[in-house]
Amino acid sequence: MYTLGGMARPSATRVLVLHGPNLNLLGAREPAVYGRTTLAQLDRQIRRHAESRGAEAVCRQSNHEGQLVDWVQNAGREGFRAIVMNPGALTHYSLALRDAVSAVSIPVVEVHLSNIHGREEFRRHSVIATAARGQIAGFGPASYLLGVDAALQSASPGRPPRRPR
Ligand code: DQA
Repeated sequence: MYTLGGMARPSATRVLVLHGPNLNLLGAREPAVYGRTTLAQLDRQIRRHAESRGAEAVCRQSNHEGQLVDWVQNAGREGFRAIVMNPGALTHYSLALRDAVSAVSIPVVEVHLSNIHGREEFRRHSVIATAARGQIAGFGPASYLLGVDAALQSASPGRPPRRPR
Protein backbone atom coordinates (compact mmCIF):
# COMPACT_ATOMS: atom_id res chain seq x y z
CA MET A 1 0.00 0.00 0.00
CA TYR A 2 1.26 3.46 -0.90
CA THR A 3 1.51 5.95 1.92
CA LEU A 4 1.87 9.70 1.71
CA GLY A 5 2.66 11.58 4.90
CA GLY A 6 1.29 8.65 6.85
CA MET A 7 -1.97 8.69 4.86
CA ALA A 8 -2.78 5.36 3.26
CA ARG A 9 -3.71 5.51 -0.41
CA PRO A 10 -5.41 2.15 -0.94
CA SER A 11 -6.63 3.19 -4.39
CA ALA A 12 -3.15 3.97 -5.80
CA THR A 13 -2.51 2.20 -9.10
CA ARG A 14 -0.31 -0.81 -8.41
CA VAL A 15 2.40 -1.84 -10.84
CA LEU A 16 4.30 -5.12 -10.58
CA VAL A 17 7.99 -4.88 -11.53
CA LEU A 18 9.65 -8.20 -12.35
CA HIS A 19 13.37 -8.85 -12.74
CA GLY A 20 14.47 -12.11 -14.36
CA PRO A 21 17.55 -14.34 -14.04
CA ASN A 22 20.88 -12.90 -12.89
CA LEU A 23 19.48 -9.46 -12.18
CA ASN A 24 20.01 -10.17 -8.47
CA LEU A 25 23.72 -9.70 -9.30
CA LEU A 26 23.29 -6.11 -10.50
CA GLY A 27 26.09 -3.84 -9.33
CA ALA A 28 28.68 -6.63 -9.48
CA ARG A 29 27.70 -8.30 -12.78
CA GLU A 30 29.48 -6.90 -15.86
CA PRO A 31 29.37 -3.30 -14.56
CA ALA A 32 30.63 -1.99 -17.91
CA VAL A 33 27.36 -3.23 -19.44
CA TYR A 34 24.86 -3.07 -16.57
CA GLY A 35 26.32 -0.35 -14.35
CA ARG A 36 27.11 -0.23 -10.63
CA THR A 37 23.57 0.21 -9.29
CA THR A 38 22.56 -2.76 -7.14
CA LEU A 39 19.15 -4.38 -7.36
CA ALA A 40 18.19 -2.98 -3.94
CA GLN A 41 19.13 0.55 -5.07
CA LEU A 42 17.28 0.11 -8.35
CA ASP A 43 14.14 -1.12 -6.58
CA ARG A 44 14.24 1.93 -4.27
CA GLN A 45 14.48 4.23 -7.32
CA ILE A 46 11.56 2.43 -8.96
CA ARG A 47 9.36 2.62 -5.84
CA ARG A 48 10.16 6.31 -5.32
CA HIS A 49 9.44 7.06 -8.98
CA ALA A 50 6.08 5.28 -8.80
CA GLU A 51 5.21 7.19 -5.62
CA SER A 52 6.05 10.48 -7.36
CA ARG A 53 3.37 9.49 -9.90
CA GLY A 54 0.86 8.69 -7.16
CA ALA A 55 1.25 4.97 -7.83
CA GLU A 56 2.75 2.01 -6.06
CA ALA A 57 5.43 -0.33 -7.43
CA VAL A 58 6.07 -3.78 -6.01
CA CYS A 59 9.40 -5.26 -7.15
CA ARG A 60 10.30 -8.96 -7.34
CA GLN A 61 13.22 -10.92 -8.78
CA SER A 62 13.57 -14.59 -9.66
CA ASN A 63 16.11 -16.77 -11.42
CA HIS A 64 13.32 -19.24 -12.25
CA GLU A 65 11.17 -19.15 -15.37
CA GLY A 66 8.18 -20.85 -13.72
CA GLN A 67 8.15 -18.36 -10.85
CA LEU A 68 8.04 -15.47 -13.33
CA VAL A 69 5.22 -17.21 -15.26
CA ASP A 70 3.25 -17.59 -11.99
CA TRP A 71 3.75 -13.93 -11.08
CA VAL A 72 2.62 -12.77 -14.53
CA GLN A 73 -0.44 -15.06 -14.45
CA ASN A 74 -1.49 -13.94 -10.96
CA ALA A 75 -0.74 -10.21 -11.26
CA GLY A 76 -4.32 -9.21 -12.13
CA ARG A 77 -5.74 -11.25 -9.25
CA GLU A 78 -3.18 -9.63 -6.94
CA GLY A 79 -4.58 -6.23 -7.86
CA PHE A 80 -1.84 -5.04 -10.22
CA ARG A 81 -2.95 -2.90 -13.15
CA ALA A 82 0.22 -3.34 -15.22
CA ILE A 83 3.55 -5.16 -15.27
CA VAL A 84 7.04 -3.86 -16.02
CA MET A 85 9.36 -6.77 -16.72
CA ASN A 86 13.03 -7.27 -17.51
CA PRO A 87 13.06 -10.96 -18.42
CA GLY A 88 16.89 -11.10 -18.60
CA ALA A 89 18.12 -13.89 -20.88
CA LEU A 90 14.60 -15.40 -20.94
CA THR A 91 13.82 -12.51 -23.29
CA HIS A 92 15.53 -14.38 -26.07
CA TYR A 93 14.01 -17.86 -25.81
CA SER A 94 11.24 -18.31 -23.22
CA LEU A 95 8.04 -19.09 -25.09
CA ALA A 96 6.44 -20.03 -21.76
CA LEU A 97 6.98 -16.50 -20.44
CA ARG A 98 5.90 -15.01 -23.77
CA ASP A 99 2.66 -17.04 -23.66
CA ALA A 100 2.03 -15.91 -20.06
CA VAL A 101 2.38 -12.27 -21.16
CA SER A 102 0.00 -12.97 -24.03
CA ALA A 103 -2.50 -14.69 -21.73
CA VAL A 104 -3.04 -11.80 -19.31
CA SER A 105 -5.22 -8.80 -20.03
CA ILE A 106 -3.15 -6.22 -18.13
CA PRO A 107 -0.40 -4.45 -20.14
CA VAL A 108 3.16 -5.70 -19.88
CA VAL A 109 6.05 -3.33 -20.65
CA GLU A 110 9.34 -5.06 -21.48
CA VAL A 111 12.45 -3.23 -20.26
CA HIS A 112 16.19 -3.76 -20.56
CA LEU A 113 19.10 -1.94 -18.98
CA SER A 114 21.28 -2.37 -22.06
CA ASN A 115 20.40 -1.70 -25.69
CA ILE A 116 19.85 -5.33 -26.71
CA HIS A 117 19.60 -4.27 -30.36
CA GLY A 118 23.18 -3.02 -30.34
CA ARG A 119 24.72 -6.12 -28.73
CA GLU A 120 25.46 -9.73 -29.73
CA GLU A 121 23.27 -11.21 -32.46
CA PHE A 122 21.49 -13.59 -30.05
CA ARG A 123 20.32 -10.67 -27.88
CA ARG A 124 18.75 -8.74 -30.74
CA HIS A 125 15.62 -10.88 -30.86
CA SER A 126 13.00 -10.79 -28.11
CA VAL A 127 10.33 -13.50 -28.13
CA ILE A 128 8.52 -11.45 -25.44
CA ALA A 129 8.16 -8.36 -27.64
CA THR A 130 5.34 -9.74 -29.80
CA ALA A 131 3.17 -10.13 -26.69
CA ALA A 132 4.33 -7.04 -24.75
CA ARG A 133 2.66 -3.62 -25.01
CA GLY A 134 6.05 -2.16 -25.86
CA GLN A 135 9.76 -2.29 -25.14
CA ILE A 136 12.24 0.17 -23.61
CA ALA A 137 15.94 -0.69 -23.82
CA GLY A 138 19.29 0.96 -23.37
CA PHE A 139 18.78 3.60 -20.70
CA GLY A 140 20.19 1.78 -17.68
CA PRO A 141 18.04 2.12 -14.53
CA ALA A 142 16.01 4.83 -16.30
CA SER A 143 14.60 2.11 -18.59
CA TYR A 144 12.58 0.90 -15.60
CA LEU A 145 11.41 4.41 -14.69
CA LEU A 146 10.31 5.03 -18.26
CA GLY A 147 8.72 1.58 -18.12
CA VAL A 148 6.69 2.54 -15.05
CA ASP A 149 5.47 5.68 -16.84
CA ALA A 150 4.55 3.62 -19.92
CA ALA A 151 2.80 1.05 -17.72
CA LEU A 152 0.78 3.73 -15.92
CA GLN A 153 -0.20 5.28 -19.24
CA SER A 154 -1.24 1.87 -20.59
CA ALA A 155 -3.14 0.72 -17.49
CA SER A 156 -6.86 0.95 -18.06
CA PRO A 157 -8.59 3.67 -16.08
CA GLY A 158 -11.47 2.96 -13.76
CA ARG A 159 -11.80 0.75 -10.78
CA PRO A 160 -8.71 -1.23 -9.84
CA PRO A 161 -9.14 -5.00 -9.88
CA ARG A 162 -10.26 -6.42 -6.57
CA ARG A 163 -7.39 -7.34 -4.27
CA PRO A 164 -7.36 -10.69 -2.51
CA ARG A 165 -8.20 -10.62 1.18
C1 DQA B 1 19.15 -7.65 -20.15
C2 DQA B 1 19.71 -8.07 -21.50
C3 DQA B 1 19.71 -9.59 -21.64
O1 DQA B 1 20.24 -9.97 -22.91
C4 DQA B 1 20.56 -10.22 -20.56
O2 DQA B 1 20.50 -11.63 -20.65
C5 DQA B 1 20.19 -9.74 -19.20
C6 DQA B 1 19.90 -8.32 -19.00
C7 DQA B 1 19.25 -6.13 -19.93
O3 DQA B 1 18.61 -5.64 -19.00
O4 DQA B 1 19.96 -5.43 -20.65
O5 DQA B 1 20.20 -10.50 -18.23
O6 DQA B 1 17.79 -8.02 -20.09
